[in-house]
Amino acid sequence: MRSLDQKLSAALKSRDERLIRRRLPEFSQIVTSGQSVIDFTSNDYLSLSRSPTLRRAVLDALSSTPDILGSGGSRLLVPAPAHAALEARLCRFFDAEAAILFNSGFDANVGLFSAVPQLGDVVIYDELIHASVHDGMRTSRLSRDSLISFAHNSVPALKHIIRRLLSHGEDLKTGKSSIFVAVESLYSMDGTFAPLSEIVDCVEEMLPLGNGFVIVDEAHATGIYGPKGRGLVTSLGLEKRIFARLHTFGKSLAASGAVLLVTELVRDYLLNYARSFIYTTALTNASVIAAGCSFDMLEDGTTEVLAAHLMELCAFFVNRIRVHLKSIPPTLLRLPDHLQESTGTPSSQPFQFPSQIIPLLTAEPRSLSTFLLAFSPSEYSNTNSHHTPPSVAIYTKPIFPPTVPRETSRVRICLQAGHTREDVEILIQGIVAWAHRRIEDARRDRKEWNQMASEIGVRTWMESKL
Ligand SMILES: Cc1ncc(COP(=O)(O)O)c(C=O)c1O
Repeated sequence: MRSLDQKLSAALKSRDERLIRRRLPEFSQIVTSGQSVIDFTSNDYLSLSRSPTLRRAVLDALSSTPDILGSGGSRLLVPAPAHAALEARLCRFFDAEAAILFNSGFDANVGLFSAVPQLGDVVIYDELIHASVHDGMRTSRLSRDSLISFAHNSVPALKHIIRRLLSHGEDLKTGKSSIFVAVESLYSMDGTFAPLSEIVDCVEEMLPLGNGFVIVDEAHATGIYGPKGRGLVTSLGLEKRIFARLHTFGKSLAASGAVLLVTELVRDYLLNYARSFIYTTALTNASVIAAGCSFDMLEDGTTEVLAAHLMELCAFFVNRIRVHLKSIPPTLLRLPDHLQESTGTPSSQPFQFPSQIIPLLTAEPRSLSTFLLAFSPSEYSNTNSHHTPPSVAIYTKPIFPPTVPRETSRVRICLQAGHTREDVEILIQGIVAWAHRRIEDARRDRKEWNQMASEIGVRTWMESKL
C-alpha cells in the first residue's frame, strides 16, 4: 500500500475504533422491502420535498421558462437576470437593504466570515456555531486569538468577553476595530433558540460607537418561524439591528442555495472579496426557479398552516415523552435542560415552545436508533383489535462528538410537517420500549453478576477451609 493510502486508511480505522466513522446512508440498508419508513432525520421540516403543490409549481415554472439549464459560470462572468430578480424579491420579503445569493449556506458563511472581518477585528461566536462559520473564520485574516467562543446562549459570558476585550484593546474601545458576534437563531443539533434580543442589546450597550455587529444564521428557522417563515430576526423586529442574516433554501424550502441579507456596501464588498461567491459557477437557473416557487408558498401563506401543524406536533411529542421519561433513569435517556418541565425559573429561551429539533441525550445513541429501525409497533400494541399496523421502520440518526460536544451523544429527532400524531406515537412507543429493554438488560446483567460473585465467594470460602 502506498504511504498516503496507509495514512488515509489509518485515519478511517481510528474513526471506526472510536465508533465515529461516517458513512453514507442507503435506504436499501436501512429498510427491508415492503417496509415504510417514518423519517425523523431530514431537515425537510415542512415536508415540502413531498408537496404535490410545490412539485406542480416547479414543473410548471420550469416548462414555461426558456432558460432553465445551467447558469454559464460565475455571477461575475455571466449576467444572471433570474438570480438578480430573486435577490430583489428577497430584499422586499425580508425587509433588507441588499441580498446576495450563494450556492449554499456553507458557501455563504465561508464567504462572509473569511472576507469581512478586518485585521484587528475580533469574532466572538457561540460555542455551538456551525462548522461553516469555523471554516470561514479560519480562512479569514484574523489570528486564532481573535476568534473567541462563548458559552452556548450565555449573554453574561458574551458580556464578559467583550468587557475583557475592551479593557485591553484600544482600537476596539475607540471604534477603530470591530467585534462580530456569530450566532444561529435556532441551533441545529440542540434545537435551542438564541436569546437574540438580549444579544443585540448587549452588543449595542457595550459597543455604543457602533462597532459591534451581530450575524445571525437562520438556516433552521427559515420557513417556519416569524411571519410567513421570515425567521426569528423578523419575528423579534430586529431586522435593522442585525449586520447579516443567512437564510438557506435546502432545509424547510426543499430547494438549494442560500441568501445573505446585508447592506448595499457589504454586498458590494462580498462580490469583490468572498471567494466562495467569486470562484464558483452560480446556482443553475432551475435551482433559482425552484427556490422562487418555495418562496411563493411562504408568501401566499400555504406554509403557515404546515408550520402550525409542526409546532403542534413538537409540543405533543415533548409533553408525551416527558411523562414517559419520569420512569426512565436520566443516565440512560433524557431531554436536554431547556426541554425539561418548567421549574418556574425564567428560561433563557425567547420562545417557550419546543422547536422541531429535539435531542434525546443518551450514551447509547447507536443502540437506540438501531432498535427503532427494527421496532415493530404491533409487538407492543396492547389493543385487542385485529388491525395490525403496517410494517414501519423508524429512521433516526445517532450523533456523536465531534459533531456535538463530548459527553452529549444523542439521537437527534427532527419532526416534520408531514408527520402525523400517529407517527409520533409510534416513535414514542419505540423509544420507551428501547429504554425498558435496556433497563431489563441491566437488571439481568446485575443479577448474573451478583450470582457469579456469590458463587466465587462461596468457592473461595470453601477453598480456604480445605
Ligand atoms: C446552521 C447551519 N448553517 C449553515 C448550513 C449550511 O447550509 P447549506 O446546507 O445550505 O450548505 C447548515 C447546514 O447544515 C447549518 O445547519
